[in-house]
Amino acid sequence: MSEQHLSVAVIGAGMAGRSHAAGYRAVNTVFGEGLPPIRLAAIADANEPLAVDAARRYGFERAVSSWETVVDAPDIDAVSIVVGNALHRPIAEALIASGKHVLCEKPLAGSMADARALAEAEQTADVVTAVGYTYRRSPAIAAIRDHVQDGDLGELTLFDGRYWCDYACDPRSPLSWRYLGGPGSGALGDVGAHVIDAGQFLCGPIVSVSGGVLETQIAKRPMPLGAVVGHGAAPVSNEVGEVENEDTAMFTARFASGLAASFSVSRTAFGMPNGLGFDVHGLAGRASFDQHRPAEFTYDDAQPDARTRGARQVIVGPQMPYFAGGYPMEAPGVGGGNAEMFVYQCRAFLDQIVGTPDPLPPNATFADGLHTMAIVQAVVRSAQSDGAAVPVPAA
Ligand SMILES: NC(=O)c1ccc[n+]([C@@H]2O[C@H](COP(=O)([O-])OP(=O)(O)OC[C@H]3O[C@@H](n4cnc5c(N)ncnc54)[C@H](O)[C@@H]3O)[C@@H](O)[C@H]2O)c1
Repeated sequence: MSEQHLSVAVIGAGMAGRSHAAGYRAVNTVFGEGLPPIRLAAIADANEPLAVDAARRYGFERAVSSWETVVDAPDIDAVSIVVGNALHRPIAEALIASGKHVLCEKPLAGSMADARALAEAEQTADVVTAVGYTYRRSPAIAAIRDHVQDGDLGELTLFDGRYWCDYACDPRSPLSWRYLGGPGSGALGDVGAHVIDAGQFLCGPIVSVSGGVLETQIAKRPMPLGAVVGHGAAPVSNEVGEVENEDTAMFTARFASGLAASFSVSRTAFGMPNGLGFDVHGLAGRASFDQHRPAEFTYDDAQPDARTRGARQVIVGPQMPYFAGGYPMEAPGVGGGNAEMFVYQCRAFLDQIVGTPDPLPPNATFADGLHTMAIVQAVVRSAQSDGAAVPVPAA
């Protein structure tokens, strides 16, 4: 890092890579001073036209076609890894070895062995290592967490979490990296990892799972003829390949507190484009969130006047985490959603690097990412043993 600026790069210009690019572009517009000017140095993607387009749109100086070029570049300080999960380990290891700070997308890696190696590397790394669990940055979810931690819901009695998506409903969707990698790397690792992290963010660590069920509704998919971006459609051949992982998963879990939980995740839940949601109940209150309505949540804390008792809609506003200083228009009811969460995540990563005086809460660590993957693998083992209870090693 030079005294004049902090230089960032994004590896991967696909669906989530562009969200990181947009996040870095905006980090100096939120939460006051503390960061040096951010230099948007490079975007790397093996699909070079995609990298060139992303660099142009988000104002990055150069587009490159290999991640190794970013690793070797002496002028880059901090890097987001936003490519398919199997590539996370080699890229993260090379970046750490070259002294660059790393924000790696979830899930931490493509296998438990890779995730363990990264968590081990984190212990001796002298750079910041972080994992991108964006939903922690939702003002509504962070506000609900504050209520849970303050005991406003009373003793917790039930957590029910879901992440229902429909991006895989079309059987003509090509066999991209998302459909490869073995049990646990499908809906469970892709979207389930987010709601597992959200559950732990709210209620603490999960210590065991049971009742695991994994289902694959569409067992074969057509081979892509060219590049596939995100969940998008792409030209496909008449040849098909085997889907290696689950479309749908369900399980129950127990938190260290003793609280029981149920989770369900799917990429074949028609009509649910991005349905992360949960209900958390206690003896004295209830809070519910649905990412399809990200700028509000439902809250019920048994008002003393029985005539108006009942759940109410709470609109996100400056009284909540991230809002004051985090929006160009700091007025309640202006909305907000996914894009802002990436800005706050990038800002937190750079706060960690610089040591700003008033930092955002730090990102999840590689150790946290390994723990979430251990939960995913415990669900797989539960599913393979008729739903048996499987303990999860502590983080
Ligand atoms: N936090 C979130 O909300 C969120 C959302 C979506 C995806 N993700 C995560 O982000 C990562 C990427 O997902 P995506 O949906 O953006 O995928 P994507 O398929 O849209 O994009 C991945 C990009 O990586 C590029 N790529 C492949 N091999 C490469 C290589 N060797 N060098 C450089 N680039 C290469 C591809 O060309 C592609 O453009 C995954 O780990 C995923 O789990 C996170």
